[in-house]
Amino acid sequence: MVEFTGKTLLFAFFAVACTIVANAVKTATVSKDVTGHFRTIAAALASIPDNDEAWEVDIYPGLYVEHLVINRTGPLTLRGHTNCTESKCQPTYKDNAVTIAWNDSATNGTTNEQTSAVWIRTNNFKAYNINFNQTWGDGWYGQGPQAVAVTVDADKVGFYHSGFYGWQDTLYVGDKYPGRQYFKECYISGAVDFIFGNASAFFDNCTIAYVGTRGFMTAQKKQYDTPNATIKSGFVFDKCQVIAANNTRGSQDNTAEITQKKHLIEPHMHLRILALGRPWRNHSTVIYMNSFIDRHIQPQGWATWYANTLGDYSHIYYAEYNNYGPGSWGPNVVARETLNFTRLINATEANQFQLHEWYDDLSWIDGKA
Ligand SMILES: *[C@@H]1O[C@H](CO)[C@@H](O)[C@H](O)[C@H]1NC(C)=O
Ligand SMILES: *[C@@H]1O[C@H](CO)[C@@H](O)[C@H](O)[C@H]1NC(C)=O
Ligand SMILES: *[C@@H]1O[C@H](CO)[C@@H](O)[C@H](O)[C@H]1NC(C)=O
Ligand SMILES: *[C@@H]1O[C@H](CO)[C@@H](O)[C@H](O)[C@H]1NC(C)=O
Ligand SMILES: *[C@@H]1O[C@H](CO)[C@@H](O)[C@H](O)[C@H]1NC(C)=O
Ligand SMILES: *[C@@H]1O[C@H](CO)[C@@H](O)[C@H](O)[C@H]1NC(C)=O
Ligand SMILES: *[C@@H]1O[C@H](CO)[C@@H](O)[C@H](O)[C@H]1NC(C)=O
Ligand SMILES: *[C@@H]1O[C@H](CO)[C@@H](O)[C@H](O)[C@H]1NC(C)=O
Ligand SMILES: *[C@@H]1O[C@H](CO)[C@@H](O)[C@H](O)[C@H]1NC(C)=O
Ligand SMILES: *[C@@H]1O[C@H](CO)[C@@H](O)[C@H](O)[C@H]1NC(C)=O
Ligand SMILES: *[C@@H]1O[C@H](CO)[C@@H](O)[C@H](O)[C@H]1NC(C)=O
Ligand SMILES: *[C@@H]1O[C@H](CO)[C@@H](O)[C@H](O)[C@H]1NC(C)=O
Repeated sequence: MVEFTGKTLLFAFFAVACTIVANAVKTATVSKDVTGHFRTIAAALASIPDNDEAWEVDIYPGLYVEHLVINRTGPLTLRGHTNCTESKCQPTYKDNAVTIAWNDSATNGTTNEQTSAVWIRTNNFKAYNINFNQTWGDGWYGQGPQAVAVTVDADKVGFYHSGFYGWQDTLYVGDKYPGRQYFKECYISGAVDFIFGNASAFFDNCTIAYVGTRGFMTAQKKQYDTPNATIKSGFVFDKCQVIAANNTRGSQDNTAEITQKKHLIEPHMHLRILALGRPWRNHSTVIYMNSFIDRHIQPQGWATWYANTLGDYSHIYYAEYNNYGPGSWGPNVVARETLNFTRLINATEANQFQLHEWYDDLSWIDGKA
């Protein structure tokens, strides 16, 4: 069963007379209880033909406990309804009313990708206003294992006002696939290596919230020198808020939970124990610019990986530019300069990391979201 929006019905009706709407997006609708809609996102996806047409899945508020592999050929958009219903309201991730949750961890032969709530293998994928929640290890304050909320093995992927919640390895931006991935005003939480992979990822005005007791924000995996590559492996954080969450798993203002977990979180806020990144491979590339960096970041800023697997750090590119806040370079310059593979760059050097320089083509980015 496939449902069509009014827009598509209009298209069907006027198709002969009016070809301007020939690119109307077809839509499948999911809700927990509205008659005639799909009950699960998986059922909606299964109804969509595997062809070049652009499709959208329109999702009513609710908690959807599902493991989804998105691998159709044509473009796909997942759009969550939000609590921001006023006509002039500009929705943020705080208004999200749709959560896709899954509980799995990479043990006993399950791979990182397989643990994901959503595993995207379709180019030209977009998601709007959806929370992706890996619930394994909720309230967990120990070590591992990996448990991913979202894996992206695709190119030209955009997430807008979405939330990524997890503990270790929350957001896997892909490993071998040359992918461009853009994150606009998203919330990403985790404790260990919680943004990892070797994609070409750009985080625009995102909130990166730490929920752990000791860890690494990024584990970027660039491993070859590719100066002229069209798709550059690396992570750019621009205008982001690098903070420690009060809580676990995204209930940003759940006072009861904050009170309950206070003894676990607050002492560590003073320990300065999160690193901005550690290199997964020998060309690891991460840039933070124009961002607020709070005091949970360790004074040295960055961390090493096991010396025996990486060895030579001379090709690592870890840079900071124009950040502010107690965990940024300025107030920690003495500690920062003890590491020889990190640098404070100037405006000229930082220019190459602006969105329009980082990607040669912005046509796949929704500039209006
Ligand atoms: C796409 O994913 C579905 C669900 O996991 C799977 O059954 C199907 O074989 C996959 N198709 C391709 C082309 O990988
Ligand atoms: C959205 O609205 C519903 C219904 O009023 C409420 O239960 C839910 O907590 C709200 N969620 C957010 C994120 O505001
Ligand atoms: C993994 O396997 C071990 C040994 O069979 C078992 O004790 C454990 O519960 C399994 N873990 C998960 C998450 O299935
Ligand atoms: C997730 O699954 C584990 C078993 O692997 C279970 O112990 C845990 O309670 C589950 N967590 C949630 C939030 O459902
Ligand atoms: C990630 O690494 C693989 C090689 O392992 C490479 O082919 C791919 O282009 C890389 N991704 C990016 C975005 O550079
Ligand atoms: C960042 O996003 C918030 C909404 O989450 C918005 O209010 C703010 O204006 C944005 N900042 C910039 C610099 O775009
Ligand atoms: C990259 O391009 C520059 C000029 O644009 C050229 O001089 C250089 O050899 C190229 N490097 C590689 C590795 O192809
Ligand atoms: C943590 O709680 C304080 C005080 O309630 C609040 O001001 C701050 O915004 C909260 N931080 C986050 C990340 O939610
Ligand atoms: C994620 O799931 C955990 C465990 O069920 C829950 O405590 C948390 O509130 C959820 N967060 C979001 C944003 O849905
Ligand atoms: C980086 O690591 C890759 C394997 O991951 C290796 O092939 C390459 O030679 C290394 N490059 C340097 C400069 O050490
Ligand atoms: C960087 O520092 C490390 C450890 O202090 C040292 O082994 C290495 O030789 C230094 N590298 C350079 C290029 O100075
Ligand atoms: C910026 O840094 C580069 C590399 O260190 C240097 O060549 C350049 O002169 C600097 N530019 C300015 C304006 O300081």
